[in-house]
Amino acid sequence: MHDFNFKKDQLFCENVSVEKIVKEVGTPVFVYSHKTLVDHLIKIKTAFAKISPLICYSMKANSNLTICSELVKNGAGIDIVSGGELYRAKKIGVSGKKIVYASVGKTETEIAEAIKTGILFFNAESIPELELINSVAGRLRKKQNVAIRINPNVDAHTHHYITTAKKQNKFGIDMGTSRKIFLQLSKKLKNVKLCGVHVHIGSQIEEVTPFIQAIKKSLALINELNKKGAGITHLNIGGGLGIVYRKERPQTADDYARAILPLLKDSGLKVILEPGRFIAGNAGILLAKITYVKDTPAKRFVIVDAAMNDLIRPSFYDAYHEIVPVKADKKEKLKKADVVGAICESGDFIAKDRRLPEALKPADILAVMSAGAYGFTMSSNYNSRRRAAEVLVKGNRYFIITKRESYADLIRNEVVAKV
Ligand code: LLP
Repeated sequence: MHDFNFKKDQLFCENVSVEKIVKEVGTPVFVYSHKTLVDHLIKIKTAFAKISPLICYSMKANSNLTICSELVKNGAGIDIVSGGELYRAKKIGVSGKKIVYASVGKTETEIAEAIKTGILFFNAESIPELELINSVAGRLRKKQNVAIRINPNVDAHTHHYITTAKKQNKFGIDMGTSRKIFLQLSKKLKNVKLCGVHVHIGSQIEEVTPFIQAIKKSLALINELNKKGAGITHLNIGGGLGIVYRKERPQTADDYARAILPLLKDSGLKVILEPGRFIAGNAGILLAKITYVKDTPAKRFVIVDAAMNDLIRPSFYDAYHEIVPVKADKKEKLKKADVVGAICESGDFIAKDRRLPEALKPADILAVMSAGAYGFTMSSNYNSRRRAAEVLVKGNRYFIITKRESYADLIRNEVVAKV
């Protein structure tokens, strides 16, 4: 599942001791395993080999240039959601023919840039957006492929912030309106080739049933519309596969494929997938150094040099990340503690009520596991904290793939105006 393992009593990423990285790069630092990243991509590729889908890695999970570029080298396309992500995709030289673009709020400039890049699909999320894509494409004298992101009204049974396909959610277009778009509006949209359906129902989904429901609904719609001459050739089934953070038992790529391949294999459609977390989540950890151990009459706080600005998932979604001291001693006495950062909010915590070695002391290093997805990409400069460094390990070598920010970086766009 991942390549972070203890050798004797020391945590290693592949063949590099994480303490060595800490000594040379400092903390907080995200450390990723190249092997885990690529293995996860290959797991999906292999599971779906029968239909050879296009796997567009969802770069919002981790958009580091080296990471995306290594995945692209191994055959991935890219799923983007903003002009910034398009800029990154172009920087690593991924072919436009392997880029798909979702988002409820694509601006005119973003749309124009993506059309000029020759992206494979916009996943359109509203009629006004579709009309704007049509008019921008016309101006640029291009005919642009568009998929309709449908909202199938399926509950993915995941955290309500990352459930995206219930009718109350802002995403996608309801089935009735989607029908009308394909059968009526499409005739007016001369610069758009409406030839795809996209469905993404949420993230960290542990069961297969919601995926099956959404795909069945999509296929029924496509069959109905194609009988009437819609010409739909592509089905994008989104991302959302859950991973193990604690005791989850999510489906493996094979389980997922076994359940949905029978639905897809005779459809004649070209299938696109958009996994993010499944590829990057367990491929990364966040290393933090203990600053203080603070015992109060109520509880113990282990205060570290990473905080909610580095990893917001615990504060934002109450997410669980395992905490592992990088030097393990199995016989150690344990004591419950909260692992917290230095930020001035009680909501700034990385873990609550964890049984950690009682002997933990300043300068010891803790690893926050499964921090490869939605870790660095959601980080911020809150409290004027510099964003962490990122390191990629491959075998017995490691590469700094993001330098730690400097204080000068923090203010590089600011001006003390003469007011
Ligand atoms: N495709 C679309 C259109 C998406 O919106 C997303 C994620 C994905 C693919 C990739 O989903 P994944 O395979 O990673 O589940 N920040 C949250 C997760 C937000 C997911 C947003 N959309 C978290 O930390 O749990």
